[in-house]
Amino acid sequence: MNILVAGGAGFIGSHVVDRLLRRTDFELLVVVDNLWTGLQSNLAHIRDDRMKFVKSDVEVFNSELRFDEIYHFASPASPPWFIAEPARTISANIRGAFRLRELLARGGQFAFTSTSEVYGDPLVSPQPESYRGSVDCTGPRSSYDESKRCTESFLFEMSRTEGMRIKVVRLFNVFGPRTRPNDGRAVSNFLTRALRGDPIVVYGDGSQSRSWGYIDDIIDALERYFWLDGINFSGPLNIGNNREISVIDVALYVQSLFPQVEIQFGPPVAQDPTNRCPDLTRARQVLPGWHCKVSYEIGIGLTLDWFRKVGMSQGAGRANLPNKEI
Ligand SMILES: NC(=O)c1ccc[n+]([C@@H]2O[C@H](COP(=O)([O-])OP(=O)(O)OC[C@H]3O[C@@H](n4cnc5c(N)ncnc54)[C@H](O)[C@@H]3O)[C@@H](O)[C@H]2O)c1
Repeated sequence: MNILVAGGAGFIGSHVVDRLLRRTDFELLVVVDNLWTGLQSNLAHIRDDRMKFVKSDVEVFNSELRFDEIYHFASPASPPWFIAEPARTISANIRGAFRLRELLARGGQFAFTSTSEVYGDPLVSPQPESYRGSVDCTGPRSSYDESKRCTESFLFEMSRTEGMRIKVVRLFNVFGPRTRPNDGRAVSNFLTRALRGDPIVVYGDGSQSRSWGYIDDIIDALERYFWLDGINFSGPLNIGNNREISVIDVALYVQSLFPQVEIQFGPPVAQDPTNRCPDLTRARQVLPGWHCKVSYEIGIGLTLDWFRKVGMSQGAGRANLPNKEI
C-alpha cells in the first residue's frame, strides 16, 4: 500500500505525515512539495525509511506508482502568500487535484483540505456546511476561495459520476508550531513581532473575529476522519474551534505576555472577512467525542515556546511578504 501527501512539508501536512507514520499498514509514503510555503526542515526529524521526499510541483509530479491514499494539502493558506501569486494558487489547488486523481489507485481514497474561506464573508454565524457562502469571485482573495470551491466541485462530481472515494474537510484557522515566522497570519505574526520587540500591527479595528484551532486538536480530527475511525462519509466537514475570538483580543493577550510591546493599527485588509466560526453539529456526529481541548491562551504559550526554541530561525532567507493577518 502506497500513500501520497502533496504539500507534506507545510505546517499541517508535516503534522499529518507524523501521524501517518504511526501506522504499520503501508510500505511507502511519498511527500510531494515544491517548498513554496513549506520547509524541508519540517520533516527533518523523520527517520522512517518508508517516507520519501520529492521536490516538485504537484501539478507535474510524475510516477509509475498508483497511490491508495492521496492527501491534497498543496496550497498556501496564508493570504499575503496566495494574494501575491494567484495563478500559482489556483494551479496548485485545481491542476493539483486533476494530476493527483490520475495517480489514485482504483478504489483509493482522495482527501482534500478545503477551507472556511469557501464561506467568504459569511452572512450567517456560525457557518454550517450547508451555507453556500458569500464570496466575491473577482475579489483579491478569489484565487484561494474560488480554487478551493472549484476543487470541491471537481471532487464531489468525480465522486458522483465515477464513484471516486473522497473526503473533504473545511478547515477553520489553525495555528501552532511549524508556522513560519513570515507566514503572515495573525497568531504567528503577533508572536514573531513581539519576540523581536517590534510593535504588533492589527489591520483594521481588530473587531474581525476568527476561531483558532490548535494544531494538535485539528490533527486529532483529521486522523480520525481520514483513516482511524473507518468513516464512510465524503464531507464536506467543518473542522475547527468554535470559540470565536476577535483579532484585537488575541493582540491584547500577546501584549499581556510582552508588556513592553506596543499595539499599532494599520489599514484594513481588502475584503477581510468580518467573522468566522464553525458550526460543528456535523463534526460532533461524524467524530463523536472530538472537540478542541487546547484554548488559544494555552496554544499561544506552546507556539511561543516553539518559536523561541526552533521557529524564529526557520525559513531564513525566504521572501518577506507584507505582515498582514487574517
Ligand atoms: N492553516 C490553516 O489555517 C488552514 C485553514 C484552512 C485550510 N487550510 C488548507 O490546509 C492545507 C495546508 O495548509 P498549511 O497551513 O499547512 O499551509 P502551508 O503553506 O504551510 O503548506 C502548504 C504546502 O504546500 C506546498 N505547495 C504549495 N503549492 C504547491 C504545489 N503547486 N506543488 C507542491 N507543493 C505545493 C507548500 O510548499 C507547503 O509546503 C492547504 O490546502 C490550506 O489551504 C489551512
